[in-house]
Amino acid sequence: MTRTAGTTGAITVYGHAKINLFLGIVGEYGQGFHALAMVMQSISLADALTLTPAIDIQLTCDHPTLPCDARNLAFRAAQLLQERSQSHRGVTIHIEKRIPIGAGLAGGSADAAAVLVGLNHLWGLGLTLPELAELGSQLGSDIPFCVMGGTMLATGRGEVLEPLSPLTLPLLLIKPNDVSIATPWAYQTHRQLRQQHPGWQVTPIQPMLEAIEHIHSPSDLIPHLHNDLEWPVLLQHPDLADLKASLQQDPDVLGVLMSGSGSAFFTLVADDDAAKRCAARWQSPTLSTWAVRTLDHGVTVYG
Ligand code: C5P
Repeated sequence: MTRTAGTTGAITVYGHAKINLFLGIVGEYGQGFHALAMVMQSISLADALTLTPAIDIQLTCDHPTLPCDARNLAFRAAQLLQERSQSHRGVTIHIEKRIPIGAGLAGGSADAAAVLVGLNHLWGLGLTLPELAELGSQLGSDIPFCVMGGTMLATGRGEVLEPLSPLTLPLLLIKPNDVSIATPWAYQTHRQLRQQHPGWQVTPIQPMLEAIEHIHSPSDLIPHLHNDLEWPVLLQHPDLADLKASLQQDPDVLGVLMSGSGSAFFTLVADDDAAKRCAARWQSPTLSTWAVRTLDHGVTVYG
């Protein structure tokens, strides 16, 4: 990122969604948070945010049900950066929502990350990406990753990041239109299940990290795809378990995993053509699909 003296015109910023190639629960913190070991990956699906200099902070969005006040992480991110930088500048933020909500793709965090990186550029603050990620961690566990982007090992609450070898993977994303999962519910239900099953064990992340280091083809990752939150979510939503099973029967699909707390799934496929074929085949009145690619960054700024 370059240091600038600030920009007077509007800028467009893309906040990219993430998937979890691995999501392991390794412990519990207080206050309802868990210690995690995750492989997080940025993908090409993104919300487009327009940031226009203004006197105060305002937010609009093309999505009918998203709040446009301090309940929205993007709004809070602008307030936080204004406070931190003691700036008297404002901004009008407009969000074109493309990342589905309640999907486990970090759509809200991607918007907050885009605001942090975009406003740093617009206001000429000169903060580094790690400084912005640290600021974002005050608002949500996924925001630091959405700021830094790429392929990362994420531990702690998800905010302790370590870069991994970049992955170039074509993917199909698929989300049932009428199922949205609340993240706190998924974690809380996993906790109850763990208590009911004392034999439950942590799944080690190391084999996935080694597979990423030595990858030759997307198939190398398949045995190591893992998401602890599939247990509560698929138990509560048998229709999602059926969807996963059906996807696994598709000849183009190499492997399927729920992302984050769902309800979106991603599938690994051999190439972009397979991703496009799958997207066309699985699209229906009840299922949304996207052919996407992995990316090596979380936010894209167009000055
Ligand atoms: O940090 P964030 O607000 O995005 O987290 C949303 C919810 O996800 C938390 O309220 C908590 O229920 C759950 N969570 C968790 N452990 C984490 C991250 C999130 O239990 N490390």
